[in-house]
Amino acid sequence: MIFKDKVTVVTGASQGIGETIARDFAAEGAVVVLVDIQKEKLEAVAASIKAAGGRASVREANVAAFAQAEAAAASVVQEFGKIDHLINNAGITRDNLLLRMREEEWDAVVAVNLKGIFNFTKAVLRSMLSARSGRIVSLSSVAGAMGNPGQTNYAATKAGVVGFTKSLAREVGSRGVTVNAVAPGYISTPMTLGLPEAVKQSFLALIPLQRFGEPADVAKAVRFLCSDDAAYITGQVIHVNGGLYM
Ligand SMILES: NC(=O)c1ccc[n+]([C@@H]2O[C@H](COP(=O)([O-])OP(=O)(O)OC[C@H]3O[C@@H](n4cnc5c(N)ncnc54)[C@H](O)[C@@H]3O)[C@@H](O)[C@H]2O)c1
Repeated sequence: MIFKDKVTVVTGASQGIGETIARDFAAEGAVVVLVDIQKEKLEAVAASIKAAGGRASVREANVAAFAQAEAAAASVVQEFGKIDHLINNAGITRDNLLLRMREEEWDAVVAVNLKGIFNFTKAVLRSMLSARSGRIVSLSSVAGAMGNPGQTNYAATKAGVVGFTKSLAREVGSRGVTVNAVAPGYISTPMTLGLPEAVKQSFLALIPLQRFGEPADVAKAVRFLCSDDAAYITGQVIHVNGGLYM
């Protein structure tokens, strides 16, 4: 168990990649704090982690709301005394061609995918800096690296995650905190299941490893970045995309 007694906060943990990361870290011995806006699903994931012998706690919070992020982080420090890992995973899409994109679609994606990362990172950072130790991993996307029609809003935020990651890595490296990103390609989750079949097939044709990714493929990269083996890695982006972008 590589994360025995570590405290891991995972945003967007009620389904998809975030849920898988939470289960993975719990299986490695971490106390996982699951953050999401979907309370019932959160409770169900936490219950199933506990049933499997893990330790989990839930915080219902909207990552886009700074006060909610602060309150959640403060309550974690109060209950568990520290935060070792922050996984900024919560994210949404509101796809549309730019000509048709409504202001609300732009704003919603920026609020969750970008401001959400600012909010939660700022909320946990002081505790990590005082401990002179911490790991922050944020979810970027292949769309942020190579672009994707219909996703100007989403791609802008996911490229923004990379700039945020590199800048913060330079700010806090001297205090023992590493900051990295994982950029998944096409992963089978509720976010992508609704895409039209033709779009899925066109992506598949571009993936050298000839399959879509699974949430576990992403969770393993996040696990590595939070492990002792990644102690000398900061400001990096690990692409987990089957070769879709290289
Ligand atoms: N699935 C993919 O192919 C793919 C590819 C690249 C990047 N990603 C990124 O990985 C991350 C996880 O994606 P996923 O596919 O598991 O998505 P998902 O839609 O299955 O899960 C996202 C989770 O975030 C939560 N969430 C949404 N808005 C929130 C908010 N305001 N506050 C708190 N929680 C909120 C949702 O309730 C949900 O539980 C996202 O950042 C996504 O952009 C996914």
